[in-house]
Amino acid sequence: MHVPVLYNEVLDHLLPEGQAVERVIDGTLGAGGHSRALLEHGAAELLGLDVDPAALEIARAALAPFGERVHLVHASYRDMADEAAKLGWDGVDAILLDLGVSSMQLDMPERGFAFRHVGPLDMRFDPRSPQPTAADLVNTLGEDELADIFYQYGEEHESRRLARAVVRERPYSTTQQLAEAIERAKPRRYPNKHSKKTPIHPATRVFQALRIAVNDELTLVEQTLPVAINLLRAGGRLAVISFHSLEDRIVKDAFRLASTDCICPPKTPICICGHRASVRLVNRKPIIAADEETADNPRSRSAKLRVVEKL
Ligand SMILES: C[S@@+](CC[C@H](N)C(=O)[O-])C[C@H]1O[C@@H](n2cnc3c(N)ncnc32)[C@H](O)[C@@H]1O
Repeated sequence: MHVPVLYNEVLDHLLPEGQAVERVIDGTLGAGGHSRALLEHGAAELLGLDVDPAALEIARAALAPFGERVHLVHASYRDMADEAAKLGWDGVDAILLDLGVSSMQLDMPERGFAFRHVGPLDMRFDPRSPQPTAADLVNTLGEDELADIFYQYGEEHESRRLARAVVRERPYSTTQQLAEAIERAKPRRYPNKHSKKTPIHPATRVFQALRIAVNDELTLVEQTLPVAINLLRAGGRLAVISFHSLEDRIVKDAFRLASTDCICPPKTPICICGHRASVRLVNRKPIIAADEETADNPRSRSAKLRVVEKL
């Protein structure tokens, strides 16, 4: 079975030795790899959420041996407090968010996440939701809007040129049509013989950007972090794994704010904001994957784990 990203690091930080961990929420269940590990290593009960019905089905089978200790729900992590309340949980001991797309989803051509497979240009995490698909975005948005998406969410430096090319060649219905249009506008660069880097496919950044835009991922994360912190019981921990610098920035800023007492502007003589820290930072610098993991799993190379503990 595929080993989840930062497996040991998540276990070490969410199940600290000697601490009772009764209720856990895995907000991004995926194939259930992290959930399984948490249940095997001391979590008494787990609520798992995913918006992807296919992921839920796979996780349901993987977690069946844990019987009634597991509650799986088709819901967004944004609604974790409501879903916890339905179980009668007014607080939890650990919450995990492993953001982004799973390798399982990338390997399903019909989901349209991967430029390496031919499939519909979809990219919705929840294919039953009424939200616009990636095809809807690339076929209808203006050139400037597309360029902004490519630049902001994909950190694509040739965003304007690519947006122009994408608009010129539209409409698109498949991943392959879009990947080929991008490749024509931005041919692959092969590194010189001294470089150790393998070149990324020219469509990598545009595909990542469209996925983030389709699922409004950054807004969801920003809205969810305060909800998750609020749901933790004293001593409970929230761990977030992000794969994108903007996402990590959102996590870092939210954790810094939640771990700070006074947030009055500098030089304010006495505190007037009344803000009090609700968490402590468990790690100041993000935890990254060890060399052995990055060698086995390239996706782990950009993974960053940040953890806070409720006061
Ligand atoms: C990187 S995978 C998680 C993998 C998982 N930790 C494992 O061990 O298999 C991220 C998952 O989050 C799900 N997801 C994305 N947005 C979500 C949201 N708003 N609410 C719940 N799940 C979401 C995706 O469908 C995907 O299955």
